[in-house]
Amino acid sequence: MYTTSHVNLPANAREQLVDLLNTLLASAIDLHWQIKQAHWNIRGKHFISRHELFDDLAKHAREQADSFAERAGTLGGYAEGTIRLATQNSLLPEYDLEAVDGDAHMRALVDRFARYAASIRDGIQRSEALKDPVTVDLLTQSLGDVELDLWFLESHLTGENRPGAPRSRKDRDAGTSSHA
Ligand SMILES: [Fe+2]
Repeated sequence: MYTTSHVNLPANAREQLVDLLNTLLASAIDLHWQIKQAHWNIRGKHFISRHELFDDLAKHAREQADSFAERAGTLGGYAEGTIRLATQNSLLPEYDLEAVDGDAHMRALVDRFARYAASIRDGIQRSEALKDPVTVDLLTQSLGDVELDLWFLESHLTGENRPGAPRSRKDRDAGTSSHA
């Protein structure tokens, strides 16, 4: 471990918790900048409301990154939070750099948020197995916030704009999907 911690969990459990928190930290940093990418590059209908919504969501991701890093530190770990470390450790794929109109950004962000939420849910199960209720609680609170933000995003996508929905009658007839 990086520093002494008097948190009374076995060192081995603390080490595994720090690893999982660092993976979530990297993903939160990556997600934060992906949301900013959407905030800066979105165009088209409902520009201002979506531009502002993305800034609120970016703030939440930044706060989650801070919580994950500080829990890693509390457990005696080293927080791996530079941009370069984050790009190595993030579980998210690169942002959709072709996205221009609002719905394309929504689809890209719904996909990233869903992956991020799944990794936090997995982290809750692993923290439970490592018998750390404090990390379980932190991740459970974070997951509730992330799922609420995911609902705000996916509520913009109805009918044919849903991720996975056929984009046109022709696509539908061909049985192809247009997942972003
Ligand atoms: Fe801004």
